[in-house]
Amino acid sequence: MSERSFVMVKPDGVAAGLTGEIVSRIERRGFGIVALEKRLMAREVAEEHYGEHRERPFYGELVEFITSGPVVMLAVEGPEGTIDALRTMMGPTNPLDAPPGTIRGDFATDVGRNIIHGSDGTESATRELTLHFGAELSG
Ligand code: RTP
Ligand code: MG
Repeated sequence: MSERSFVMVKPDGVAAGLTGEIVSRIERRGFGIVALEKRLMAREVAEEHYGEHRERPFYGELVEFITSGPVVMLAVEGPEGTIDALRTMMGPTNPLDAPPGTIRGDFATDVGRNIIHGSDGTESATRELTLHFGAELSG
């Protein structure tokens, strides 16, 4: 059984020159990169991507931020459990809670600028892969 996740280096990570480091960690771990693309996320797509947070006070800022510069989007494949393993590699949402060795714990300090996104479950992975890459890549 294989599993696919949607991973994204956010605009702050791209601007800081961390794309290679992040892609390298994912590759060296042994996960497969099925697709990789650098582009600006359209506002409507960003609103859809973060739709679950629509009622939250930080939603506007979140959409502004994620569309503020290019992102690097990846479809990542591995065995069952890959989605959770990638979240573990990223570390908790607030980088100040993230242990050293995690991507957020090594490279970020601000909850609103936490440099990487990864799907949080199989449903969101399918939804996000379909939204950003199309249904044929959703696994
Ligand atoms: P993401 O979706 O971006 O991968 O992050 P996540 O799953 O770890 O966190 P989530 O709860 O989905 O929140 C999405 C993004 O919203 C920002 N946030 N700000 N100010 C705050 O309290 C707050 N809480 C969340 C973060 O940038 C988070 O990545
Ligand atoms: Mg999330």
